[in-house]
Amino acid sequence: MRSFSGGAVACGRRPDEGVLAWFRRHRWVAITLTAAAGVGLAIQMVPYGWDHSNPPVTQDAPWPSPEARELAVGACYDCHSNETNWPIYSYVAPMSWLVRRDVDRGRDELNFSTWEDEDNDADDAAETIEDGSMPPRQYKLLHPDARLSDEEEQLLVEALRTIDEGRGGDDDNSGPGGGDDD
Ligand code: HEC
Repeated sequence: MRSFSGGAVACGRRPDEGVLAWFRRHRWVAITLTAAAGVGLAIQMVPYGWDHSNPPVTQDAPWPSPEARELAVGACYDCHSNETNWPIYSYVAPMSWLVRRDVDRGRDELNFSTWEDEDNDADDAAETIEDGSMPPRQYKLLHPDARLSDEEEQLLVEALRTIDEGRGGDDDNSGPGGGDDD
């Protein structure tokens, strides 16, 4: 007769041992896993980060060549344009919060899709590439397109300087009008 009374088990797993029995024996592991899953689900309810909108492009930056634009799209446009490519992980908290914050702050500082806004400073953008602060390092880890070679960097920096000159350089008041803030 089979005994279920615990005690000495000489022959390994008993047939009635399942997930539940395992959980009963590893109570603290079970509690921790359940709590973690609960927190993981609960944070999905926080609305911040749900919004994956791309507002309309009112005026794209006047890139001097398609190559330059392509480099900018790969390295900058996810955070500095209204053509953000929202990655899969941006739909899951807490990554969604980090991405949302990057895009909000990035668009606020520089937006290639609203070039009529004179706050956009192409020369400043060229500098961030030269000093290596943009694109951000964590972003480059996840996005191979943003890892520019020396020549690509050079091309993008020169394109940005050309755009800047087209605007009349630093003390800009000759750019195309508008200046509609969002
Ligand atoms: C992952 C998102 C992301 C990408 C990609 C990115 N940026 Fe940024 N950028 C930000 C954020 C966030 C800020 C504002 C906070 C800060 O300065 O770190 C910013 C700020 C800036 C600023 C203004 C502040 C300063 O440092 O002068 C410039 C200019 C800029 N970025 C240029 C670029 C250029 C050019 C590229 C592409 C080569 C790029 N960024 C790629 C997120 C990004």
